[in-house]
Amino acid sequence: MRKLVITRHGGPEVLQVQEAAEPVPGPGEIRIRVRAAGLNFADVLARVGLYPDAPPPPVTVGYEVAGVVDALGPGARGFREGDRVVALTRFGGQAEAVAVPVEQAIRLPEDKDFVEGAALPVNYLTAYLMLERLAAIRPGDRVLIHGVAGGVGLAALQIARALGAETFGTASPSKHARLREMGLDHPIDYRNRDFEAEVRRLTGGRGVDVILDPISGAATRKNYRLLAPMGRLFLFGVSSFNRGTRKRSLVDTLRSLLQTPLFHPIQLMNANKGVFGVNIGRLWDERQRLRAIFEELCTRWEEGRIRPVIDTTFPLERAGAAHERLQSRQNFGKVVLTID
Ligand SMILES: NC(=O)c1ccc[n+]([C@@H]2O[C@H](COP(=O)([O-])OP(=O)(O)OC[C@H]3O[C@@H](n4cnc5c(N)ncnc54)[C@H](OP(=O)(O)O)[C@@H]3O)[C@@H](O)[C@H]2O)c1
Repeated sequence: MRKLVITRHGGPEVLQVQEAAEPVPGPGEIRIRVRAAGLNFADVLARVGLYPDAPPPPVTVGYEVAGVVDALGPGARGFREGDRVVALTRFGGQAEAVAVPVEQAIRLPEDKDFVEGAALPVNYLTAYLMLERLAAIRPGDRVLIHGVAGGVGLAALQIARALGAETFGTASPSKHARLREMGLDHPIDYRNRDFEAEVRRLTGGRGVDVILDPISGAATRKNYRLLAPMGRLFLFGVSSFNRGTRKRSLVDTLRSLLQTPLFHPIQLMNANKGVFGVNIGRLWDERQRLRAIFEELCTRWEEGRIRPVIDTTFPLERAGAAHERLQSRQNFGKVVLTID
């Protein structure tokens, strides 16, 4: 079979499609013939060498796939060969075949396609966990979503709107018209304006109740200041560690790291503010709890209450261009790798 390999840390040219042995499903596992694999910003960070959770190169990453079951390991129950499924994979998903424990897979609804399937798990689990489970937002809450036109961002927008929130979101200006069409109340041009000043202006100085921050660095300082009393800040990414350069920049990384604030408990207590960290890559041992959320999200998807927004698809061989699309901030929604 073929798989996409990060051969070493660097620009998109370090990605290569290589031949490898088929994975053999172990006890309690199924093997999936992959038809579509989601691309995440974490994959870009893994390629440049800024994602410590990824194994060192040469490595095949990929957190989510949709495809067809083609083999069952000993004792694997609940699926048959030929079943169409969507699954979480902790690495190895960007390949023609991957073996996963049965608990990480769910049957793909009849009328749904592989591309949307591969776009669902990571983005929606992350957004749901923050907004619905941890932030417990209520109608009328003001929610600021950074990177609102990205994969997690659009998932968060759909969930926040369904809960009746007033939505604020940062994105490159070319994406604002479409974001408004999708129901974003207040698009903010973070590239040409100070987002903190904009949010203050839009809220009459009060700030917002919930903020999703995948940026870190100096932006986190601003976000914390923007929280209204009883506000909750979610830290779940470090995009400021890489400012769009094709390779890792130690200067950018160090600068952002030093600008990222530390929070003292007494300071949080007296301000009535909460700061959460979320990393679903580190929730793998909570399989049953993650699965319950995953099932709930699949039901909502089947009922049309949520729907992944697909930006583009690229065949595995063009994964470099797919990475470039995310890194050069062109994507509106999810980028998906496809395999014929
Ligand atoms: N902790 C977790 O469990 C978890 C899970 C999933 C994702 N994440 C994090 O959530 C963020 C979004 O992930 P995603 O996969 O949905 O990707 P994404 O948002 O689709 O990523 C690309 C978009 O991010 C925006 N962006 C902002 N700063 C950027 C930078 N320095 N370099 C490139 N693009 C930048 C750009 O859009 P605009 O310019 O239009 O904003 C770009 O189009 C990432 O930081 C990711 O690491 C965390």
